[in-house]
Amino acid sequence: MASEIIVIASDHAGFEMKSALKETLTEMGYEVLDLGTDTADSVDYPDYAEALSEALGDGRAARGVLVCGTGIGMTIAANRHKHVRAALCHDTTDARFSRQHNDANVLAIGARTTGTESAIDCLKTFLETEFEGGRHERRVAKMS
Ligand code: RB5
Repeated sequence: MASEIIVIASDHAGFEMKSALKETLTEMGYEVLDLGTDTADSVDYPDYAEALSEALGDGRAARGVLVCGTGIGMTIAANRHKHVRAALCHDTTDARFSRQHNDANVLAIGARTTGTESAIDCLKTFLETEFEGGRHERRVAKMS
């Protein structure tokens, strides 16, 4: 069975954290579609949120990860798209509820506000938690 593709992108502030999360994804057996950035040189986070949203929209991946300094800019930019439900998570409780209640399809992490180990825990929880459906289905549907 082909492994699931997870799309990932960051700006310069999230570049190092992106590398750590990529490593975790690979260890977990996922295929990674990395849309950059590839260096610590300054770039604009909306460009990367846009690229990732496009990859979700055209079916290259069903789930993604965005990293910037706080995760806030990436979350705002990605959520401009109706098919994106990006959740800024700081701990595994955020990550768990973002899946169970919001059916989030993008995990956003702040590299300047969340430690690497916590981010990895968020990533694992995000990927391994199912959407609960039921009453949450109706609420999520109202957003799209
Ligand atoms: C870049 O300095 C920083 O503004 C960006 O990474 C992010 O935190 C925006 O929300």
